[in-house]
Amino acid sequence: VRSDPAFLTYEAIAGIYDAFNHSNDYEMWLGRALLPELEKRGLRSGGAVLDVGCGTGRAFLPLLRRGWTVRGCDLSPGMLEKAGEAEGGDQVPLSVADMRDLPRFGLFDLVLSLNDSVNYLLGEGDLVDALRGMRANLEPNGLMLFDVNSRIVYDEGYAESREIEHQGRRWRWVGLGEASPSIFEARIEGDGIPPTVNKERFRPLPEVREAMTAAGLTCLASLGMEEVEGEVVLSEPPDENRHYKIVFIGKVASTS
Ligand SMILES: C[S@@+](CC[C@H](N)C(=O)[O-])C[C@H]1O[C@@H](n2cnc3c(N)ncnc32)[C@H](O)[C@@H]1O
Repeated sequence: VRSDPAFLTYEAIAGIYDAFNHSNDYEMWLGRALLPELEKRGLRSGGAVLDVGCGTGRAFLPLLRRGWTVRGCDLSPGMLEKAGEAEGGDQVPLSVADMRDLPRFGLFDLVLSLNDSVNYLLGEGDLVDALRGMRANLEPNGLMLFDVNSRIVYDEGYAESREIEHQGRRWRWVGLGEASPSIFEARIEGDGIPPTVNKERFRPLPEVREAMTAAGLTCLASLGMEEVEGEVVLSEPPDENRHYKIVFIGKVASTS
């Protein structure tokens, strides 16, 4: 695990992750878009939720405010340390865990994995292993939700360089493109961090759907995500070349 590229990246950037991603609004995204989408499919608010790859705990507050009991896990102890200090983090049991070999923490009404955490799984069979572990943590009638970056993020976001500035600190994202088939790299450098290489694996829609099936999950929806006038809009069918994320909702397959 300690040589895993995601472990190295997130241990390096844990201290600046929230500032680097300061523009992400989880109340808008999770609170006003994703949770209502889950409720349309039968989710009752206020149960138990497992946040897999919870990072610094950005999803905790929108969940806690709506009465959810939250548990979080992540590969990176540095990210979890920040999650413990986040608002509401004192109410959330946190564990270091690799989602490719997820313990059974309990049975949850909802299992979440947000902000392309599963794109950090670089190995061929890793996504199926992670989804199997999430399924094992689901109540029989529970729902799971995760998102992946779409093709356009890899083609454009990993080709460009950009500056990020927040409260007087500056970072650079330097896209390095497709380093090996489906693996995209970018260098992150700047104030308060050692330069680090961020690696993600592009997984096209059919591959993700097949992985869900192989993990014993039924895909209830795959939704393209965009922002329109300051709100997240989710729609079907997803378009890899227009939507910047694709959100998958699943449940335990009835035959398994
Ligand atoms: C882009 S961050 C998203 C964090 C959080 N979900 C959010 O929305 O801010 C990706 C997270 O996935 C975690 N991660 C990457 N590979 C993982 C693995 N194999 N098992 C568990 N967590 C992993 C990283 O440590 C990081 O915290």
